[in-house]
Amino acid sequence: MDIVRRMNILGISYNYHDAAACLVRDGVPIAAAEEERFTRRKHDSRFPEQAIKYCLAEGGMEPSELECVVFYEKPAQKLERLLQIGKAFMPASAADVAKKFPKIVKEGLRVSHQLRQRVDFDGKVYFCEHHMSHAASAFFASPFDDAAVLTVDGVGEWSTCTQFVGHGQRLEKLREIHYPDSLGLLYSTLTAFLGFQVNDDEYKVMGLAAYGQPRFKPQIEEFITLFEDGGFALNLAYFSYMYDSHAMYAEAMTELLGPPRRRDEPIDQRHRDIAASLQAVTQDAMVGLARSCRKITGQRNLCLAGGLAYNCVANSQVVGRCGFDQVFIQPAAGDNGAALGAALWAYHEVYNMPRGHRGYHTLLGPQFTDEEILLSLDKFGLKSVRLSDDELCRRTARLVYENLIIGWFQGRMEFGPRALGNRSIIANPCSPDMKDILNNRVKLREDFRPFAPAVVAEAAATYFELDGPSPFMLLAPRVRPERAAQIPSVTHIDGTARVQTVSREQNPLFYRLLECFGEVSGVPMVINTSFNIRGEPIVCSPADAVMCFLGTDIDFLVIGNFLVSKA
Ligand SMILES: [Fe+2]
Repeated sequence: MDIVRRMNILGISYNYHDAAACLVRDGVPIAAAEEERFTRRKHDSRFPEQAIKYCLAEGGMEPSELECVVFYEKPAQKLERLLQIGKAFMPASAADVAKKFPKIVKEGLRVSHQLRQRVDFDGKVYFCEHHMSHAASAFFASPFDDAAVLTVDGVGEWSTCTQFVGHGQRLEKLREIHYPDSLGLLYSTLTAFLGFQVNDDEYKVMGLAAYGQPRFKPQIEEFITLFEDGGFALNLAYFSYMYDSHAMYAEAMTELLGPPRRRDEPIDQRHRDIAASLQAVTQDAMVGLARSCRKITGQRNLCLAGGLAYNCVANSQVVGRCGFDQVFIQPAAGDNGAALGAALWAYHEVYNMPRGHRGYHTLLGPQFTDEEILLSLDKFGLKSVRLSDDELCRRTARLVYENLIIGWFQGRMEFGPRALGNRSIIANPCSPDMKDILNNRVKLREDFRPFAPAVVAEAAATYFELDGPSPFMLLAPRVRPERAAQIPSVTHIDGTARVQTVSREQNPLFYRLLECFGEVSGVPMVINTSFNIRGEPIVCSPADAVMCFLGTDIDFLVIGNFLVSKA
């Protein structure tokens, strides 16, 4: 009898933001999760001990059975950058260097030690370059044999933006732009300027942009020069993040844009216009980069990753304007997905294993049995009825149609920041008041932020100007003008919507729910927003879901096959 030896590789990312772990078996991602989901601390950047333990348990294996662990960046190079930049901006940078230095030395340079101490792993550890991790997370998870690959974020070791070409199991780096020139840090700096949280609220700035006019575009273009060849450079006179990661912008920026917004200050039209201007320049930059990828690689397919790839408005421009036939965007585009990329990189590039797996999906997190679900319901004294799949979808669709808000908890948790139908709050997209109701009663978030629709894939083109699938909610096409009045709660002020297309193969139960809602309403679509409240990570376990349900005005909880009411 042949004994088939499995190759298990664990990728990890931590020590910056969104710590995560991912287990890849024979080239196939079989488990992945962010640490925040377990610790319940949003964007938890600490060593992902619980995420690693989850991945190993899901894989049914001991740490000693891992072929290797791969860290998502090279801490020694990061340290070198900190010291070199610190030296260049002394003495202003002294406090920043003093703060970051021990963190990198203590955490980043002691990955093997941490693995030994915390999860009892004593084997091989590899280090993959930060942007290679991002690139691998997109290309090796994509359906393409050949593609151009673009990664754009704040900063890795030195690189802030990298262009690759991928062929089969190989990724070749063609060009990179180095810190301190950074499109991600431009976006983050303006995020700070507008009184939002850096590394967290960039998507709020994107939402706000739709309410403004880009009348500050000439000023933003003072901050960044876009070159003909797709490259860019920042005018550092306007920035201070090189030596002060707290403030991020220099006085010169205030002179051009007016006073920055304090966190507690109301948002006015100037703030909206600054957001719109930043978004417009960012889109120009992303389009320029993607077009240059097309030109230098000659490839017809593009893969995208890095924090900027969460900017679904810019993504739609890239899809529509850069000459690619197909675009794959890694749904865990930030440093969480870099854990996945690091593991895939090792499998293909270190162990020289061929591509094989296709059909990446995000349902890589924990799932729970009926017994575990019932235990949580009992603990909180909640009554439930157990329904068949079909009855569950029919009843839920009817409740959504009656404008009730439903917590929808099914199967495996999503990996990445978007809930895609397994840890979702769902509501009626046709009700004009639903956006405000959801914001006020459940999500407790800013009223300018749009809600996203999940629609059956076959009907997507009926409602949206969308040519292909958008399974990960990473594109923001226009709502067809004649349909906008029908789905007011998911149509953003600028006439777009951040669409998730759902196919039967991808998520049969969620698909069935959308179908059932279509049967009662005529519109096979629901509002799909993540199952959490402001400031908290998406729910992971049944207990998290029950607590969120009880702590908010969510009307019903559908958890597994159980329909739960508060009465
Ligand atoms: Fe990154």
